Amino acid sequence: KKGEKTMLVLNNEQADIQKLVREFAQKEIAPRAAAYDHSEEFPWDNIKKMAAIGLMGLPIPEQYEGMETDAVSYIIAIEEISKACAATGVILAVHTSVGTLPIYYFGTEAQKQKYIPDLASGRKIGAFALTEPNAGSDASKVATTATLEGDHYVLNGTKCFITNGAAAETFIVLASIDRSKGTKGITAFIVEKATPGFSVGKKEEKMGIRASSTTEIILDNCRIPQENLLGKEGEGFKIAMTALDSGRIGIGAQALGIAEAAYQEAVKYAKTREQFGKPIASFQAISFMLADMAIQIEAARLLVYNAAALKDAGRPFGKEAAIAKTFASDTAVKVALDAIQVLGGYGYSREYPVERLLRDAKITQIYEGTNQIQRIVIAGHILK
Ligand code: CAA
Repeated sequence: KKGEKTMLVLNNEQADIQKLVREFAQKEIAPRAAAYDHSEEFPWDNIKKMAAIGLMGLPIPEQYEGMETDAVSYIIAIEEISKACAATGVILAVHTSVGTLPIYYFGTEAQKQKYIPDLASGRKIGAFALTEPNAGSDASKVATTATLEGDHYVLNGTKCFITNGAAAETFIVLASIDRSKGTKGITAFIVEKATPGFSVGKKEEKMGIRASSTTEIILDNCRIPQENLLGKEGEGFKIAMTALDSGRIGIGAQALGIAEAAYQEAVKYAKTREQFGKPIASFQAISFMLADMAIQIEAARLLVYNAAALKDAGRPFGKEAAIAKTFASDTAVKVALDAIQVLGGYGYSREYPVERLLRDAKITQIYEGTNQIQRIVIAGHILK
């Protein structure tokens, strides 16, 4: 049928989620995306609305108050939310992929029961605190320390660029129990915001995804009960890398959603804007740009969905996630930039959404591993 997606891989459940989230996002989230970008206010009402329809715990089993969907459905939800508002998209992606799933994959039953229902239902927001001022791409250089004193670990250090920093109540924090051991000393902890010694530091003013909260997290003699150790001592680096393997598919989906939003604006504008007596879409200079956008988006979508499908099939997907994230984020930047060109002076104006989409797109080439780091990951898989 005209207008229907030509995507053949979706099953009924995935197609239903796509329709539900698309309609929800366009009606409830998209109309205020520009205002949130402008005000930099955290979109709490978007979170509450997403929570009300189960979006805050899509891939989490029902027993922990999740929706128990597959990874493909979850990824489609990120894509659709990001198409409407990329800031809301990253809040959801980080909350789920790296803020909640590691507890499900590596937590004890007691930890799962204590923390996951609040996260999966959206009563609380989750975050992931790995990055530090001197440990960005080189994640092994975590300088935050954790020292066991009696039945508590005492955490000291500063994290930076933490997505959901000021909004989250549950953090997965990576700290080193012995810096001489390198990655083998890095250990993961579940840290509650209310813990004495935990504080939220400087808030970043950002180019894009401005409504999302990006802050420092300061740990000053922050005493964490021993039962909040996630996994075993020294397993934190692997836990972080495993979380990021999944997380990168989500960032790919976010980028895909941004690219699709920019493409749709460009097509709409090109069909209605008349110059030289006809719609500008009738000039090949414009229609070929639209065709190039379609080529890149189609390829990005297949890569992102395929990485998620491999995860669902229980097959290795780290290389495919890195490829999908790299390609989709480059696509988002290119498509958003070209969409501005199609809209000309209007595209450069804040009156239209494409300049925001370019600003939002740029970060997808940087976070959850820069696209240069993705090449290290991909090459590592090829050459191992
Ligand atoms: N899964 C499981 N284990 C893994 C792994 C993976 N994907 N990748 C590496 N490991 C293991 C290795 O097998 C190795 O274990 P052994 O010592 O037992 O063999 C160990 O971890 C160390 O691996 P490497 O020697 O490869 O580690 P490295 O120091 O060279 O670093 C890296 C590898 C890929 C560059 C890594 O540092 C990295 O991913 N850097 C980017 C960091 C990143 O993505 N940060 C994002 C921050 S979070 C964020 O952005 C969220 C947000 O707000 C949006």
